[in-house]
Amino acid sequence: MKIAILKEKRPHETRVAGVPETVKKLIALGAEVVVEKGAGKGASVSDAAYRDAGATIANTAKAALDGADVALKIQRPMTGAEGTDELADFAPGQALICQMQALSDPAWVAALAGSGVTGFALELVPRISRAQSMDILSSQSNLAGYKAVLDAASEFGRAFPMMMTAAGTIPPARVLIMGVGVAGLQAIATARRLGAIVSATDVRPATKEQVESLGATFVAVEDDEFAQAQTAGGYAKEMSDAYKAKQAALIATAIAKQDIVICTALIPGRPAPVLVTEEMVDTMKPGSVIVDLAVEAGSNCPLSQLGKIVDRKGVKIVGHANVPGRLSGDASRLFARNIVSFLTPMIDAETGSLKIDTGDEIIAGTLVTRDGAVVHPSLAPEPAASAATDAEPAKTEETVDGNG
Ligand code: NAI
Repeated sequence: MKIAILKEKRPHETRVAGVPETVKKLIALGAEVVVEKGAGKGASVSDAAYRDAGATIANTAKAALDGADVALKIQRPMTGAEGTDELADFAPGQALICQMQALSDPAWVAALAGSGVTGFALELVPRISRAQSMDILSSQSNLAGYKAVLDAASEFGRAFPMMMTAAGTIPPARVLIMGVGVAGLQAIATARRLGAIVSATDVRPATKEQVESLGATFVAVEDDEFAQAQTAGGYAKEMSDAYKAKQAALIATAIAKQDIVICTALIPGRPAPVLVTEEMVDTMKPGSVIVDLAVEAGSNCPLSQLGKIVDRKGVKIVGHANVPGRLSGDASRLFARNIVSFLTPMIDAETGSLKIDTGDEIIAGTLVTRDGAVVHPSLAPEPAASAATDAEPAKTEETVDGNG
């Protein structure tokens, strides 16, 4: 089996879907690995390092894909309509494993089906215990939560820890984390390690204990709706307008005392909830910093702008694109390991070829296109599509409510 690791062509993408460590693992599984020239540059991995790991280097994506059975990428290939037509380099029957935003862009999935590629969308890996090592959402969110705190610290004109010096005492920074999923938990831990006083809010009751066990204070409207806010899959539901009003009143009083706010709140298949309004920003002290990790999904603060640091009366609102890509070395390493964990069970031990068992819930949950058709139940034409009103992966017996 020949596996191609392709260079990312989308703006802001610094990561790469294979690193020397994972190239060696794929070769040990019997595969031949070809890497597109310069694929690792953004993650500081040289072509020579890939060669030393046993890969060959191809000058172009087309050359890398020539005769390949499987292509590995971070981001889905662009279509002609998006700029460089990366999909045109693929041949029918080749498998593609990458992040696809498949459920939010059916037109792109239709284009993928049209190219005859067998597509696996990694963001759809079900959150079951067997698939934890394949979970790109967790591996990348964890790094994003960490980096968000460092980004806040570098924009903040003060220190995080309390410091007692001969010139007097510096008070500790106050940090509020909004949304306590994988990114939020890492943000709490990172801000605590830097010495800040940390509080956090979420709508899922399970997060209260997690926040407190990390030494932070939990702030939330804990009413009947809060008690029901977690879906079977472990994600947050969209809250009612009445709950949102109560939550906004509580946050409004908390936020005025904060130096740093890290926003991580997401709802699968819906725009991110607005949690920090313009009025709330205007109550914050000049010099305060908001980092909006939800900026690519609609944003938690309406003042955030993708790829920009906005100054609102002295409050900085940071909206970096692709935050995991700001830690491209580790983000690539973890993503590449997620891919190896995903691909390994699909390699037939006897023949060394790709075996797609659609009876397996991980394969069925991620396979979006095959033989020229859209096959995912949440995207395929009637009758299957009607069953998928909620875009989150289906609950299974094995669903784990854990963080990693
Ligand atoms: P996410 O990225 O979808 O959302 C981030 C956080 O925002 C969530 O905690 C969510 O509750 C919160 N949120 C949504 N609306 C909000 C609002 N209006 N106000 C405040 N907070 C709001 O979540 P993520 O990080 O993907 O984690 C979701 C769940 O998945 C968690 O229960 C986590 O423990 C679980 N999980 C399970 C895994 C497994 O079993 N393999 C792996 C990783 C996570």
